[in-house]
Amino acid sequence: MIQNEMKKSAGWAALEYVTKGSIVGVGTGSTVNYFIDALDTMKDQIKGVVSSSVISSERLDKIGIPIFDSNEVAYLDIYVDSADEINASKYMIKGGGAALTGEKIVAAIAKKFICIIDDTKKVDVLGRFPIPVEVIPMARSYVGRELVNLGGDPCYRHGCITDNGNVILDVHNLKIIDAKVLENKINAIAGVVTVGLFANRGADVVLEGTQKGVLKS
Ligand code: A5P
Repeated sequence: MIQNEMKKSAGWAALEYVTKGSIVGVGTGSTVNYFIDALDTMKDQIKGVVSSSVISSERLDKIGIPIFDSNEVAYLDIYVDSADEINASKYMIKGGGAALTGEKIVAAIAKKFICIIDDTKKVDVLGRFPIPVEVIPMARSYVGRELVNLGGDPCYRHGCITDNGNVILDVHNLKIIDAKVLENKINAIAGVVTVGLFANRGADVVLEGTQKGVLKS
């Protein structure tokens, strides 16, 4: 099975968690696009969605699903999103699509994070994928130096401006010994908006599209 088919099967499997009359948190990326296609089939049964990014909002809008502002919603039953990497503790690296801040906010509002992946995203140790960090533009150099002090090699993502008008530094070669501690350390650097480590709020359910079908953990 090719990778896109595995993404698709994971995306469609997440429909099972969508309850009638609810507002659903929607992530960003190529795997989530399959979930959005699936959600289209039950759009008349849900109240609407809270979206994590402009690009997902555009897609949701096109198919006519009502989009709620995250400030209007006290909580969400579920948030469905993918990851760039996920380990056995359900900690993730996210932000390959630069939507990490919106994703972290919507994930924080949700009671349950359903992570939909193809089987290439499962890792034993996080960190092969560089860790994205969203940074306020005026802090770019300072944050870069601080990330070097933590042992990483930050790389400016040229031409990328986030939905919030910020820039992204992709941090290579950072040893992730304690993902929660590292997440807190990077978040504490002045000028950092969000780090794409999702350990303090990891996933609750993983739906992994594989050659043999969708595995749930
Ligand atoms: C978006 O910013 C990311 O966090 C995505 O969730 C992640 O990059 C996975 O994307 P794909 O589904 O496109 O692989």
